[in-house]
Amino acid sequence: MSIELPPLPFADDALEPHMSAHTLALHHDKHQAGYVAKLNALIENGPLAALPLEQVINASEDDLARKDIYNNAAQVWNHTFFWNSLSPGGSNKPDGALAAAIDKDFGSLAAFKEAFTKMAVGAFGSGWIWLVSEAGKLGIIKTSNAETPVGSHRVPLATLDVWEHAYYVDYENRRPDYVAAFLDKLINWDFAARNLEKAQAI
Ligand code: FE2
Repeated sequence: MSIELPPLPFADDALEPHMSAHTLALHHDKHQAGYVAKLNALIENGPLAALPLEQVINASEDDLARKDIYNNAAQVWNHTFFWNSLSPGGSNKPDGALAAAIDKDFGSLAAFKEAFTKMAVGAFGSGWIWLVSEAGKLGIIKTSNAETPVGSHRVPLATLDVWEHAYYVDYENRRPDYVAAFLDKLINWDFAARNLEKAQAI
C-alpha cells in the first residue's frame, strides 16, 4: 500500500478570485503531490510502508532518523486538512456550538479573527496557523515548517498554510491580504464545527 494524493474537494477554479486555479494547480498538483511522491519513495519496502498516513506520522514524529519521513508525511496530512478548511461557497459565519465556543474563548468572532491575523501575519518563516481545541478550550497555534498537531492533545479544527507557495502567485508578498481572504471568504466553518464535535466526543 502506498500513500495516495487525495483529489481536491472542489474544482480548481472554485475558490476564484480569492485563490486562483493556477495557485491550486501548483499547490495541490505539484507541491502536495511532491510530498506524496517523496514520502512513498522514503517508506517503500520499509517497516512503515503498509501503515496509514496518521500512523506513519506517529511512528516518525520523535525519531531523528525518520525526520524526512515525518516532514513529508506531515505535509501530506496538513495539506489535505487545509483543502478541507476551505469552502468554495465563500465564508459564512460559524453557528451553534462553534460560534458559542468562539465567543466564550476569544470574546467574539472579530476578536478571534484579530488574534488569528496577528499570529498568521507575524509568523516568521514557513508554517501553519491552526484553530485548535485543547482540553475543552479553543486556541490558535503556529507550527513551523511541516510540524503538525495531528495525534497530539491539540485537536485541529481548521488551518491556514502560510508557506509562501500558498499565496505568492495570487498575493505576492501581501500575506495580510491572503489571511484576510481566508478569514472573510474562504474558511470552511462547517468543517471546523464537525471537528469540534469530534473533539468534544473524545
Ligand atoms: Fe503548502
